[in-house]
Amino acid sequence: MPEAHRQPRWQQRYGDAATAPPQSDNALIEQLLGHRSVRAYLDQPLPEGTLETLLGAAQSAATSSNLQAWSLLAVEDRPRKERLAALANNQAHIVQAPLFLVWLADFARVARQAERHDRELHAVEYLDSLLVGGLDAALAAQNAVLAAEALGLGTVYIGALRNNLQAVIDELQLPPLVFPVFGLCVGYPDPTLPAAIKPRLPQSVVLHRETYRLDEQEPRQLDDYDRQVEAFYRAQGLENPAWSRQVIERLASVDSLHGRERIAQVLHRQRLALS
Ligand SMILES: Cc1cc2nc3c(=O)[nH]c(=O)nc-3n(C[C@H](O)[C@H](O)[C@H](O)COP(=O)(O)O)c2cc1C
Repeated sequence: MPEAHRQPRWQQRYGDAATAPPQSDNALIEQLLGHRSVRAYLDQPLPEGTLETLLGAAQSAATSSNLQAWSLLAVEDRPRKERLAALANNQAHIVQAPLFLVWLADFARVARQAERHDRELHAVEYLDSLLVGGLDAALAAQNAVLAAEALGLGTVYIGALRNNLQAVIDELQLPPLVFPVFGLCVGYPDPTLPAAIKPRLPQSVVLHRETYRLDEQEPRQLDDYDRQVEAFYRAQGLENPAWSRQVIERLASVDSLHGRERIAQVLHRQRLALS
């Protein structure tokens, strides 16, 4: 259905009954509310300079202590995308998208610089540095996602890149102190397979004021949300379970980590998160 004939984006995000605050029709906020992951791409190259534009947006994100502890690895070579897709749960969109971006937490650059300055970096091996690199990479990537969407492109994050972390590190020839946080497909969305705006949890269960307090309405609101998500999937022709069942299954068993339960060992080999 063309966008113009649909409900406003706030209602697509939160359901028919939701009331949008006055500022929500701001152009940027409209774009944010319209986000959807895209898993079907046209076989169409990106305009020249797209990668550099996305990187400029990414590098404009805030960065912890101005460390800029992340790097971007752009993959366009089809055989390499095929190998990465095979390592990431055989997700076809990785191959289909003209550009596959791997967002790296990267302390190797500053380590090289420290060596030139005859200094050793003793703080990098602590877990906080891994968080810093991962957070910086995520903030940068999300800026790139928004820039891509503003240019009419679609994206989908690929966390499954961590399923076979060591093999991905080997494929991309990543040195110690570098860690692939996630991948991101970028391309023109296939208009014959449009993605829809996926409903999110009601704000009332997400928002706490002043202290973390449980709302006694939470169970009912989550049940309502489950029904909303089921209806959303039905409208997409999908038989997906309700949100609660999905997220419980996702976290109930180690099996659902698909190899990510071994990440700590790989990180240690990369000399990260040792303590
Ligand atoms: C860090 C991260 C990793 C993700 N990994 C995958 C993935 O491997 N494959 C995939 O199809 N979607 C992946 N997604 C997309 C989520 O499934 C998607 O954002 C979520 O279902 C909400 O849908 P929406 O983005 O369309 O609103 C990932 C999202 C994030 C933020």
